[in-house]
Amino acid sequence: MHLNTFRETCNDRVNTTLSQTINALPHHSETLKQAMEYALLIGGKRMRPFLVYATGKMLSVSEQDLDGPAAAIEAIHAYSLIHDDLPAMDNDDLRRGHPTCHIQFDEATAILAGDALQTLAFEILSNYPLSSELSPKRIDLIKIVSHAAGYNGMCGGQAMDLAATGQQISQQQLEQLHNKKTGALLSACVEMAIALATDITPQNQLHLLKFATTIGLAFQVQDDILDVVGDSAVLGKPQGSDQQQNKSTYPALLGLKQAQAYLDDLHQQALQALHALPYNTQMLMSFTDFVIHRSY
Ligand code: IPE
Ligand code: IPE
Ligand code: MG
Ligand code: MG
Ligand code: MG
Repeated sequence: MHLNTFRETCNDRVNTTLSQTINALPHHSETLKQAMEYALLIGGKRMRPFLVYATGKMLSVSEQDLDGPAAAIEAIHAYSLIHDDLPAMDNDDLRRGHPTCHIQFDEATAILAGDALQTLAFEILSNYPLSSELSPKRIDLIKIVSHAAGYNGMCGGQAMDLAATGQQISQQQLEQLHNKKTGALLSACVEMAIALATDITPQNQLHLLKFATTIGLAFQVQDDILDVVGDSAVLGKPQGSDQQQNKSTYPALLGLKQAQAYLDDLHQQALQALHALPYNTQMLMSFTDFVIHRSY
């Protein structure tokens, strides 16, 4: 199957789950509900749900069993973007081609929409229909996402990002920062698929996890590069935001050319990890190419 065809299938599935979840919320705080819906459903590439479905499919997990993990990780991601854009963090006014949540609504509503999307992710994982033989795995899914989203993952990485702003840090420190702020959620997608799979050897799990951490880092290196060479209209977010704020990024640390060379290196490493697997890795290979070459 072609990457774009499978992407459409994944997007349809995750968008259906997310809209049904939002529509089922009662109406007592209509503005908050609208802000959640705005941040979740107005756009986005849906890379994390795609990674959940593509890895799960490769490991013979049913799409129904992957619907909850795919929706939950996208809800966490949407929350992370709302908070990332706030004046106290990156102070950006454009996201997914539209005004950021705090501009469209207000700051308090945006903070609460982020909070509510975060907890919604755990409600989804706790309640979604999961095959009965897999139901003992539900707690594993919750463990994976809570670990990846919190202090040990995205939030910790975001704090490191803020602390590194305007500072000179080493490449090793930048790698750790990126692994946490962005890599952790992408790795969680692969970890959840592994958790739901039966019959995957420890060795193959290691190759897949190596793939996940490499692609997670590569995703943020390309995000940093696009901040320099991208186009706001295509990105749907302000190009040059990192440079303006003096953020610690790969192009800032290594220069654009070296950052691109490093991205090529990560590309090869990710493909190598996939080559070591005894599965049909074609979709994950196309995903890797997309992550490296994307322009938005
Ligand atoms: C942007 O993520 C934030 C990062 C972690 C780099 P995406 O590039 O996946 O954003 P959307 O979901 O497509 O808007
Ligand atoms: C954000 O990194 C990572 C998150 C946890 C949201 P960036 O600050 O570089 O993401 P963009 O460029 O605003 O999407
Ligand atoms: Mg940021
Ligand atoms: Mg940002
Ligand atoms: Mg960025």
